[in-house]
Amino acid sequence: MSAPNSSFDPKQVAALNEQAVAEMVTSALAAIASASDLAKLKEVRLAHAGDRSPLALANREIGALPPAAKAEAGKRVGQARGEIKQALDSRQAALEAERDERVLVEEAVDITLPVDRQPMGARHPLTTLMERVADVFVAMGYEIAEGPEVEAEWVNFDALNVPPDHPARTMQDTFFVGSPDSGVVLRTQTSPIQIRAMLDRELPVYVIAPGRVYRTDELDATHTPVFHQIEGLAVDRGITMGDLRGTLDHFAESMFGQGIRTRMRPSYFPFTEPSAEVDLECFVCRGESVGNPERPCRTCGSEGWIEWGGCGMVNPRVLQAVGIDPAEYRGFAFGMGVERTLMFRNGVSDMRDMVEGDVRFTLAFGVEA
Ligand code: DAH
Repeated sequence: MSAPNSSFDPKQVAALNEQAVAEMVTSALAAIASASDLAKLKEVRLAHAGDRSPLALANREIGALPPAAKAEAGKRVGQARGEIKQALDSRQAALEAERDERVLVEEAVDITLPVDRQPMGARHPLTTLMERVADVFVAMGYEIAEGPEVEAEWVNFDALNVPPDHPARTMQDTFFVGSPDSGVVLRTQTSPIQIRAMLDRELPVYVIAPGRVYRTDELDATHTPVFHQIEGLAVDRGITMGDLRGTLDHFAESMFGQGIRTRMRPSYFPFTEPSAEVDLECFVCRGESVGNPERPCRTCGSEGWIEWGGCGMVNPRVLQAVGIDPAEYRGFAFGMGVERTLMFRNGVSDMRDMVEGDVRFTLAFGVEA
């Protein structure tokens, strides 16, 4: 039987000797000091104070020591663990404080800033289209003209060479304000703005007039009782139909793309002489669907042309009605449906979508401030 060891012999358990434990502490403290954030510190804690850390493993060796050595080794390991724990705790506190400070700065919310409680709205595509048209003409030196939607019957009809018994008066189904003999109507067209522009302005007159108009039509896929037109008028010396043609071509190209042609078909409007219907070359098939059953075109119904609006040379009687001498001045005028233009340009097949006010329709055109 051997006698129990009277003193701890570090050689018996290498991991527990003073130097080894001191080295564990030194390397733990160095790792703790260099842990730059909480995640790294967590790794350090696992490596130096976890169940499989060198000190924890050394601790397990204590049992193998002779009883007299256990106390000393236990104390040494305990102190070492205490030191490391303290260093971990104070590093943890320092890193947490650092993080809190950073979060306060980085995630600061200015609660005084105004908030958008409602989603951003979009302007109606008819409005943006009318503005785009107006821009095209303003760039050519035209002014934007306006007139009232509640209009004098004389301005809406008589001054435009549509006398009371004229069939055109009954063709444009009119809303009267008050009784039918009140002399006041909801304008049925933007053409009365021509009259106001010529009365209000000095010659020469170059105006573009977008506006809302009214007719007693039922709402269906291609009609609405409230719709929009865009009117153009140029009155100057020496104006010719060639000027009208070139202007309309430019207008068409700016709406439907370069190279789009227009066509004029003889027609009749009381306020122009001669008058014409303006057709657009189909901007989808560019005429290639005509007589080509293999390539039908839905946009123009394989006609190659799309009816767009009316135009002509201002009737001398209209010039006379506003006191302009037709021997000296001549003019051209045109009028297009804005809904029609939007239908062609953006492939809208049902006009009701334009009046119902559903934002799902409007938003598809994008948000324009
Ligand atoms: N005002 C006409 C309509 O509503 C359209 C029109 C045709 C306007 C010929 C014009 C024009 O200025 O010259 O049907």
